[in-house]
Amino acid sequence: MLTIVKGPYLQRPTTETMTIMWETSEPAAGQVDLWASERIHSGHRGNYKPPERLVSSVRHAEPATIHRLALRGLEPGTLYFYQIYAENAAGERVQSGPHPLKTAVPRGVPFSFTVTSETGGYSGFDVTDGRINRNIFRRMGQYRPDIALFVGDLVNDGHRYEDWETYFFGPGKEFLRSTPFYSCLGNHEDHAEWYDAFMDFPSPRSYYSFDYGDVHFTCLDSTEWIPSASYPHSAGEIRPGNAQFDFLVRDLEAYDARWKVVFFHYPPYVSGGYQVEDLRQICPLLERYGVDLVINSHTIVYERSHPLRSGQVDEEGGIVYLVAGGAGAMPEWLLPKREWHTSQSLAVPHFLQVTATSSRLEIRAIDEEGRLFDSFRIRKGNDGKKTYD
Ligand SMILES: [Fe+2]
Repeated sequence: MLTIVKGPYLQRPTTETMTIMWETSEPAAGQVDLWASERIHSGHRGNYKPPERLVSSVRHAEPATIHRLALRGLEPGTLYFYQIYAENAAGERVQSGPHPLKTAVPRGVPFSFTVTSETGGYSGFDVTDGRINRNIFRRMGQYRPDIALFVGDLVNDGHRYEDWETYFFGPGKEFLRSTPFYSCLGNHEDHAEWYDAFMDFPSPRSYYSFDYGDVHFTCLDSTEWIPSASYPHSAGEIRPGNAQFDFLVRDLEAYDARWKVVFFHYPPYVSGGYQVEDLRQICPLLERYGVDLVINSHTIVYERSHPLRSGQVDEEGGIVYLVAGGAGAMPEWLLPKREWHTSQSLAVPHFLQVTATSSRLEIRAIDEEGRLFDSFRIRKGNDGKKTYD
């Protein structure tokens, strides 16, 4: 019997495009219909009328199980509804939708995003039968983020097909239907082929960058620099001539976005275990090109550093390093004493909710019960000068 086994979910949001993905139980042709909808003051689906005008329809006739259809020519920052269909050779047909989607906002328009990680890394120890992951996804959804970042270790074993449903696409089903997401590679993904099969990130995919509103996001693959054979030390490749290093230099040089956020799995700064100090080799680069925020994971705790520059606290323009160890909590992974760089830390399952405007980044850390337990703001004046509160 033909069924939809994953998704639909959203990838690669830009101001003009969106990619819709889903998986079917057997090979089938795929189709996406996109509907326009107007805002009204009352009625169905919150303040939007039900879909009523077909904007575009994309069909992929070649039978596939993992479907990846790109919608183009869309309007920026606009809400649409989409519906997917799949049909196998026997004429069996399944569908899902309509579900809302929103294209990326252009520069100058505020937006928000959520961040979590470790949905699988922790679940390897999880005795709550997935409750934490379900709670985290549900709570994140309540904030209606424009996009979501996942900082790696989505699954326990990236090579195990079932893990992708158990730890990520299953508990995230509703959230991912309307929230485009980006992820970086963690050690638990282990560069497995399923990561590439289920995601649709910009080239070269294991590291990449994208713009959303006033933020330029750069995703790195820290597991390439710190291979498991040499962990926690680098393979000595964090230097010019290394393809990812050169990409990072070119990328940070090329973009003059109001904010620069860089995310990767291994934390260069964390007071708990699993700090990977070798990654501090890229910090001078991040400082030179005006990165504002670095988000990491791997240590299954929450931690926020003081603003740091040149290996010291610098309240006048340093970079804040966040560890969003996300959907887990390993209290014993927080050491009894804080390091000099630590501002706040707590071992609870959590996510970040971040609002980005042209003058402010507002960051909130929220636990699985919805309780706010840390928040801070970075303000930036027209002269680029930053203040933290
Ligand atoms: Fe990890």
